[in-house]
Amino acid sequence: MAEEIIVVQGTGTLKGEVRVSGAKNSALKLIAAALLGQGRCVLHNVPQISDIDVMSNVLRRLGATVERQDHTLVVDTAAVDSYETPYELVSKMRASISVLGPLIGRFGRAHVAMPGGCQIGARKIDMHLLGLEKLGVHFDVKHGDLVAVAENGLHGAYITLDFPSVGATENLLMASVVAEGETTIDNAAREPEIVDLCNMLNEMGANVVGGGSSTITVQGVPLNTMHPCEHTTVGDRIEAGTFLAGGALTGGPLTVKGIDPSFLRMAIVKLESLGCQVDTAADSITVSRTEPLRATDIQTLPHPGFPTDLQAQFMLLTSLAQGNSVITENVFENRFMFAAELMRMGADITIDDHHALVCGVSALQGAPVSSTDLRAGAALVLAGIVAEGETVVRGLEHIDRGYENYVGKLAALGASLERKTIG
Ligand code: EPZ
Repeated sequence: MAEEIIVVQGTGTLKGEVRVSGAKNSALKLIAAALLGQGRCVLHNVPQISDIDVMSNVLRRLGATVERQDHTLVVDTAAVDSYETPYELVSKMRASISVLGPLIGRFGRAHVAMPGGCQIGARKIDMHLLGLEKLGVHFDVKHGDLVAVAENGLHGAYITLDFPSVGATENLLMASVVAEGETTIDNAAREPEIVDLCNMLNEMGANVVGGGSSTITVQGVPLNTMHPCEHTTVGDRIEAGTFLAGGALTGGPLTVKGIDPSFLRMAIVKLESLGCQVDTAADSITVSRTEPLRATDIQTLPHPGFPTDLQAQFMLLTSLAQGNSVITENVFENRFMFAAELMRMGADITIDDHHALVCGVSALQGAPVSSTDLRAGAALVLAGIVAEGETVVRGLEHIDRGYENYVGKLAALGASLERKTIG
């Protein structure tokens, strides 16, 4: 069967400027939030990636029209008359669960297939459900489907999350904005994508205060006062961090544009600890390195801690650093599969539960490797750029979920790689 691969020639460089796309992990939720606008929402800076196509199809299945014009998505949900999201769509992308909150907000009910787990973890949704129950939602699970009903409508509540879950915070926001009364979400996620969603909800007529802090307060408004809006998605901080890791690997200088540096404070701290020079401007970040990479310990945490979505890319950096680094993954239970692939390229890594001991080596060797999740896939391509010899990366469907024109952007920065079909 035909298969697409990326063939990477090693000991390359990554220099120059690259503009990042809009944030995948914001745009997906902004599309879902458009259900509350009940009309024609215009979303700018939406990345051209497969996850966006899947979410667009979820909305279309509900009765919305979704049209793409370059990086703008026009989402008209006026005609949405269904609140059912089938398994065949949810199973393609877990983030489809983000329609749960807005569907309940709009219809007082929702039938959404339970999302499965994935390579990096069980990806439970218990916090989503517990919080929504506090808002007045009753859940049944029937044949793998979540059947949600708010018989007496949605009412405000004080909700404290066990863990600052991004998805739970988002679903609770999109339901509580049209609940009767005040809702407080305590221990809320603080990611920049949460702020982006709060801003869009307010642009549609909601009353959300505290987005980006641990305590978000929502004054519910009647659904019929919510209206469509035009909104521009923030830049993708994980795509930006991926390219910055590439610049740090090869020495740069490499500039990522279209990103607010405040989104990547902890990643910048770690780049400097690794021996890099980092300069920032309002809408860009530049990394360069003249010294050898220095061993640096990293632990992933909810924002503003170090992002788990950059863990693989920075494990790669530490694998070529002088000395030993400890990487601790605190967010997902199984996000070290990348290490096994990197060891095939000569990295020296020992995994112990959620710690990885990375002993720096002087060079990596090119090898055939496979992506296990989209961030590991992106990191494997970077590994191939600095390794000695040729690397072949498989499992490109993972990369295509979250990186628009990844090969083209890397080639424009000087990498020698090509995407081809074999078999
Ligand atoms: C979002 O996933 C992102 N995905 C992830 O990015 C990102 O890694 C993650 O946030 C953390 O920043 C999207 O936005 C589409 P969580 P999400 O709810 O919302 C557990 C990528 O590479 N948990 O903050 O699913 C959960 O299992 C992806 O772009 C529960 O136990 O993350 C996980 O271990 C990967 N119960 C931890 O919390 C719940 O009800 C963090 O999950 C919810 C979550």
